[in-house]
Amino acid sequence: MSLLWLARTLSTLPAGAHLIALACGLHDLTGREALRPEHATLLGICRSIPLEYPLLRCRVIDLEAASPDAAEVDPLAERILAEARSDAGAPVVAYRGPHRWVPAVEPIPLKPAQGAPALLRERGVYLITGGLGGVGLWLSDYLARTVRARLILTGRSAPTDEQRLRLTALEQAGAEVVTVRADVTDAAQMRAAAREALARFGALHGVIHAAGVAGGGLIERLSADALHAELAPKALGAMAIDEIARSFRPDFVLLCSSVTALSGGLARAGYAAANAFLDAFAQACARRPGPYTVSVNLDRWRNVGMAARAEARLLALGLDDVILDGMSPEEGQQAFHRVLGQTALPQVIVSARPLQGLPSDDEGAALARRLGAGNAAAAGNAAAAGDAAAAAGRDEPPRRAGATAVGAAERLSPEAVTAQVTAIWARAFGLDPIDPKKDFFELGGESLLALQILNRVRETFQVELSLRDFFERPTVAAVAQRIQAARGQAPASPEPALVALPRTARRLPAAGGPQAPARPSGEPDASKEPADPKEKRR
Ligand SMILES: NC(=O)c1ccc[n+]([C@@H]2O[C@H](COP(=O)([O-])OP(=O)(O)OC[C@H]3O[C@@H](n4cnc5c(N)ncnc54)[C@H](OP(=O)(O)O)[C@@H]3O)[C@@H](O)[C@H]2O)c1
Repeated sequence: MSLLWLARTLSTLPAGAHLIALACGLHDLTGREALRPEHATLLGICRSIPLEYPLLRCRVIDLEAASPDAAEVDPLAERILAEARSDAGAPVVAYRGPHRWVPAVEPIPLKPAQGAPALLRERGVYLITGGLGGVGLWLSDYLARTVRARLILTGRSAPTDEQRLRLTALEQAGAEVVTVRADVTDAAQMRAAAREALARFGALHGVIHAAGVAGGGLIERLSADALHAELAPKALGAMAIDEIARSFRPDFVLLCSSVTALSGGLARAGYAAANAFLDAFAQACARRPGPYTVSVNLDRWRNVGMAARAEARLLALGLDDVILDGMSPEEGQQAFHRVLGQTALPQVIVSARPLQGLPSDDEGAALARRLGAGNAAAAGNAAAAGDAAAAAGRDEPPRRAGATAVGAAERLSPEAVTAQVTAIWARAFGLDPIDPKKDFFELGGESLLALQILNRVRETFQVELSLRDFFERPTVAAVAQRIQAARGQAPASPEPALVALPRTARRLPAAGGPQAPARPSGEPDASKEPADPKEKRR
């Protein structure tokens, strides 16, 4: 969380800043350094920061030791400063002794096995966390058809009718299936699920960790709870599985990671962090005796699971043009077939596109361009520099059908601005009329919708409002006032967002907790914005 706070704060500096995160134990380069997978979460966050704050340069330096010898401190500081000054600096580097390492990827052909891959057994027993999810069910289908697997599918919820139909199809394909309700973050529940596998089938031959949650939102308002919701199923889940694996000794543990760990993501910093943990965890497992553990950085599966829900959200926002192609479920199954045919690699990247370097978040970048996410963040910088006029004139976006564009110098009454803003909100939420007393969150708003609204404000009024200002008072009235102010047609803020307290009243109330940031009234905690859109429906 402190890194997120730092990014938010540094992003308000007018000229952009340089954020360098120092950590140790992120990469296994010498085979001797102590690995710290929990530190690797910052890789996902640092890779996401530039997508949301384009003026903020962000780098990670993986050091050999947390506390270098006294004699090494000054040269190390010099080296880090030189790194910071260098324009050629890579986003992620590692120092080991005198050497400087930069991550790269190289294609290695993994030949498909003829018949069942080496790691699978006929009638093998496989536990899949998140087994009723999109990817879990497609992998079950693969295991059913390839080795007539006996499957234990775990998740927190009972199967829906649609999922029951899929389970029946698995049995028809030759599988035996048991579903177990277990929260993967709870080691005791996972131990019980593994015992159930043993009691029912007498063995456990493999574990696939496919439980996960995505959708925490933009760094600007990613709360500790929302971050935890994304980190816990992947990270705590991997640790619970590792404990099971050490006592049950399956042939393999396969962790479903994502290319987002390597590319970062727009409004996906928490998800990227969670997957970066899995990658580093698999690297750490390779160091010690125990079952073969591999982290697979999956690209998007077309129309499957969380990718399908993310796509639906983009379509609902009218952003279908940014959606990238992905793998078909059959291609995804083929990727697993190849990964399970070898035991040498602790991490495999599966990309739907040829890779020149590390995967990049092309979709996030397209989305940021399309919704002006960078402008919305940069508007905060300009405002911090007292340069609202520069912010207002920065951008000349294309006009979109339906938006009544207003000339920059045209004078508008407050009522006319409010009417236009109300129309923008109504269109964004698909509600007409819209209740002007409800704020953005009460209406069910989330990160991308906020960017969408700011984008339409930009197109309509030729002004740039910052995300920070938007989230501070996310109402039609407040947005209308800010537009008037940015156009130089009204005072900046008739209702001040911050009120000076008398000295005697400066202690924070205990209920908020000593570290709880003050939230503007009316803005719900982001934890109430479900991390997983599916949660909302439940
Ligand atoms: N779909 C893709 O294109 C794609 C691409 C790259 C990577 N991946 C990775 O592949 C995995 C599966 O993705 P998916 O698309 O199948 O997602 P999904 O359809 O949302 O399935 C995820 C499953 O995880 C379960 N889950 C979440 N939190 C849990 C917890 N605390 N304990 C137990 N189960 C939990 C959910 O069930 P309950 O809510 O009932 O617990 C859900 O069934 C994820 O780890 C994802 O990061 C997917």
